[in-house]
Amino acid sequence: MNILLTGGAGYIGSHTYIALAEAGHTPVILDNFSSSHSAVLDRLLQISGKQVICEDGDICDRSFVEDVIKRYQVSAVIHFAAFKSVGESVSNPLAYYHNNLGGLISLLEAMDATKCRTLVYSSSATVYGDPVSVPITEDFPRMHTNPYGHTKLVGEDMLAALRVANPDWCIGVLRYFNPVGAHPSGLIGEDPNGVPSNLMPYVTQVAVGKRAHLNVFGNNYPTPDGTGIRDYIHVVDLAEGHVAALRVLQERGESFTVNLGTGKGYSVLDVVRATEQVSGQLVPIRMAHRRPGDVAECWSDPSSAQKILGWCAKKSLNDMCADAWRWQQHNPNGYSSC
Ligand code: NAD
Ligand code: UFG
Repeated sequence: MNILLTGGAGYIGSHTYIALAEAGHTPVILDNFSSSHSAVLDRLLQISGKQVICEDGDICDRSFVEDVIKRYQVSAVIHFAAFKSVGESVSNPLAYYHNNLGGLISLLEAMDATKCRTLVYSSSATVYGDPVSVPITEDFPRMHTNPYGHTKLVGEDMLAALRVANPDWCIGVLRYFNPVGAHPSGLIGEDPNGVPSNLMPYVTQVAVGKRAHLNVFGNNYPTPDGTGIRDYIHVVDLAEGHVAALRVLQERGESFTVNLGTGKGYSVLDVVRATEQVSGQLVPIRMAHRRPGDVAECWSDPSSAQKILGWCAKKSLNDMCADAWRWQQHNPNGYSSC
């Protein structure tokens, strides 16, 4: 089947491209490269051995999206395209509402007009805000603590309203926990702009010598070693989750919302130690103040995904760190050195 991947040149989209191609689908990328690099396309060709179909354009351009859906006879859409930096969303909220919600509306209108009404939506554990307890199940209260989180939450609500209005819509909402790691080939991976705000790319940049040390944001949380705990999930496992979601939507025609996580929490120091072990490099750390808005613990109960999608994450923290390290070591400047 021809599957449209909005934002398919980005971190999660590129890994999902490979998983879909391996499952026998024909992925069609639609990306404006606002936060990705066109060099990824050649890497996808190298891994998949197949010509990569990519349409360079914006999801906010409804007639362009409609044209792409018609031209490729798209059966379903996986919608990754969005801005994702929490800090940037606080300083530039309108850009986030415009791109993440304006873009979603434009995409949904184009899908509706072409009667292509099967969608997988990238949501986030950010919709749980500061959870009352862990592990987190899908029925936990949702809240937002920043404009980025608000766009994900409103996006989910828009999709729910659409399903009520027209039951032909078949929508899988996937709430990702903390995607990390890279394809085992070392050819594609996470390529953040400037100083990484997320833990894993920061740690691998310290290991490769690009940065002097990691600031550990808080060592006085009520956790066993005092540092924050998250549910890190290998991006290849996450990509497989999308293939499973698509299969369920198409076979059963039922909508769902599931967590995609491992169900295991690891601390900042666990990640540092695992990276040191797989890389053989020291990762110097400095204890720093808590980062505003951070929570002590956030990890999933992934049993709904197991039940509904027949999917579970398989890769370990060591796999995540080893693959992130391979990508970093082979591409110290990300795709810009290509
Ligand atoms: P990414 O920034 O690597 O990829 C997003 C892609 O979308 C980029 O290639 C970008 O150029 C493209 N894009 C953005 N706006 C566009 C537009 N208007 N038109 C066309 N293309 C556009 O991000 P990612 O990590 O791959 O995240 C994918 C999705 O998953 C996002 O919706 C993000 O909010 C969500 N998510 C990510 C994480 C994470 O930690 N990476 C966690 C939870 C949810
Ligand atoms: N951390 C550090 N130092 C750093 C970066 C992070 O100590 O330089 C710590 C954080 O305090 C936190 C943990 O590492 O305890 C993970 O932080 P990340 O920034 O990697 O991830 P978050 O859980 O804060 O947030 C990420 C995305 C959000 C998304 C959320 C759930 O940035 O957009 O995962 O999917 F909502």
